[in-house]
Amino acid sequence: MKGNNHIERLINSFSKEFDKKLINLIPEKQIGSKHLYNAMKYTIKVGGKRLRPLLLTEISNLLEVKNEHSFRAAASVEMIHCYSLVHDDLPSMDNDDLRRGHQTCHKKYDEATAILVGDAFQSLAFEVLANNKTHNDPKKRIMLIKELSKSAGCEGMVGGQMLDLEAEKKKLNLKEIYNLQRLKTGELFRFSCISPCILADKINKIKVFEEFSSNLGLAFQIKDDLLDIEGDESEIGKKTQKDLSKGKETLITLMGKEKARDKSRELIKKSMKILDKFGEKANNLKDLTDFIISRTK
Ligand code: IPE
Ligand code: IPE
Ligand code: MG
Ligand code: MG
Ligand code: MG
Repeated sequence: MKGNNHIERLINSFSKEFDKKLINLIPEKQIGSKHLYNAMKYTIKVGGKRLRPLLLTEISNLLEVKNEHSFRAAASVEMIHCYSLVHDDLPSMDNDDLRRGHQTCHKKYDEATAILVGDAFQSLAFEVLANNKTHNDPKKRIMLIKELSKSAGCEGMVGGQMLDLEAEKKKLNLKEIYNLQRLKTGELFRFSCISPCILADKINKIKVFEEFSSNLGLAFQIKDDLLDIEGDESEIGKKTQKDLSKGKETLITLMGKEKARDKSRELIKKSMKILDKFGEKANNLKDLTDFIISRTK
């Protein structure tokens, strides 16, 4: 990222630190296969914006969560996200060769390795949450595990990915597309926004952060779909024009670009309004919220 404004500098410095610690969570010595370890490390090393971890960290700062606790929750959601991308790129799914400006995992290695890398990150995410370094109260750890399971699995991202593949073959109405996007993308944002409430023992804040994340997650996916049409392939580091070529139904195919863009602005406005209640302490979070739709990658 160019890094010439405040939020880009924040994203760059955060991801540099975060990535080092994330790689250290891969249990190199315990992994039976060096090949698997290398492929897992490759998947992290190629980068990514780390928006979910940063969001989780900024909300954690707002709610005064300990750094070690928020880092581990952030690592767990990024591991699920990385796994979802490795599988999303497979030939049986989106069949993509380029991810984060580098070869996709199955292109660099092979399909079986990519499937196992995804599986490994999924398990590791829960192992990280289950460790008492994540919180010394086991009830909180179980709550986190339950919420991440829901967000990642058939009630969340995996369920949404299935609907998304089905959307290549059938027409969906607006309500169905909102539901698909809430699941495939929104759910990991939901975990990123509510896990700090669990760690901070501020359960009464879950509702407001769920509302914040549902607006944000949908705006994020609208922007991803817009970037697929108008983004610069070398900048976003993945192939563009994929959705149209596959006949995939998105909010843009249904509403057109301008209406979809207006909708994303309206959603971000709603998220901003929620943050107003937190005053100046939420300034980084506001910049990040705005970045969700102003980004060019
Ligand atoms: C891309 O997510 C996949 C979707 C859920 C739309 P990101 O745009 O956050 O991807 P990275 O992590 O920065 O590569
Ligand atoms: C993927 O959505 C969302 C996931 C849960 C992985 P896309 O298929 O639109 O993501 P990109 O455009 O390949 O990053
Ligand atoms: Mg996909
Ligand atoms: Mg894809
Ligand atoms: Mg996309």
